[in-house]
Amino acid sequence: MPLLVKKAIFPVAGLGTRFLPATKAQPKEMLPVVDKPLIQYAVEEAYAAGVREMIFVTGRHKRPIEDHFDMTFELELALEQAGKHELLEVVRSVKPDDMECIYVRQAQPLGLGHAVLCGQRLVGDQPFAVLLADDLMVGPPDGKPVLAQMVEQFAEWRASILAVQEVPAEQTRRYGIVAGQAVNDRVVDVTQIVEKPAPEVAPSRLGVAGRYILTPGVFDEISAQPRGVGGEIQLTDGIASMLRREKVFAYRYEGKRYDCGSKEGFLQATVELALAHPQLGPGFRDFLRGVDL
Ligand code: G1P
Repeated sequence: MPLLVKKAIFPVAGLGTRFLPATKAQPKEMLPVVDKPLIQYAVEEAYAAGVREMIFVTGRHKRPIEDHFDMTFELELALEQAGKHELLEVVRSVKPDDMECIYVRQAQPLGLGHAVLCGQRLVGDQPFAVLLADDLMVGPPDGKPVLAQMVEQFAEWRASILAVQEVPAEQTRRYGIVAGQAVNDRVVDVTQIVEKPAPEVAPSRLGVAGRYILTPGVFDEISAQPRGVGGEIQLTDGIASMLRREKVFAYRYEGKRYDCGSKEGFLQATVELALAHPQLGPGFRDFLRGVDL
């Protein structure tokens, strides 16, 4: 099995109902945090981890995502003619030349597992990443982005890697929850994974964040799943069934996750990323100091 991860699936067909009315007529993945849409953060994270083939599982009303990663000829021409070279670079860097974007439709909203299955033919027989763009992941200031950390773990363990974080007991219903044996401070050999359990039955408080590196064996496992929580075909159930045949490791990533599918998480990301922004940060900090709290 290759130890490099070259392909990633971005499930972006969801309706974004937690963010209405902003998402009534635009994809939630296009909501900007400071100056970039959410999906661009996830794509940049994948690129930084060595992924070059981006597979977007889209749905109706998701055209702006395709346009964002396409060439914008008129804009580029106008910026060039106006001598705005820095902005031209900003626009061009959205899709580096060695990055390929492929789109496949998920015609019915049958769940995350089903969305991942829609990418099966494009992924083929290779390990691949899954990135949920509404989980905005920021690596440590002096360290690697989260997916790059996971690719290193994948090369070491040669098995599927799930990003996890400790979650409060009252929030287990929002996550896939894993349990298993610790192999070191950051890595757990997973023996159990359950989708959105109630706190009373949750096997631990280790919740899966929206980053996965999976071996291609997961596709057959997902295909064999009946509908799970919420009547949907769940990725978590496919992974649970894969545990009978393959090792799966959970990795406590270094960094921070913002749940940008929720309004609170989105606001937190906006404030913290604005403060960290090289150009905007200092002025924004001054502004916040003057806010009447
Ligand atoms: C999905 C997964 C869940 C995971 C979560 C991370 O749930 O099904 O296992 O913990 O993403 O954000 P969703 O948030 O799409 O309901």
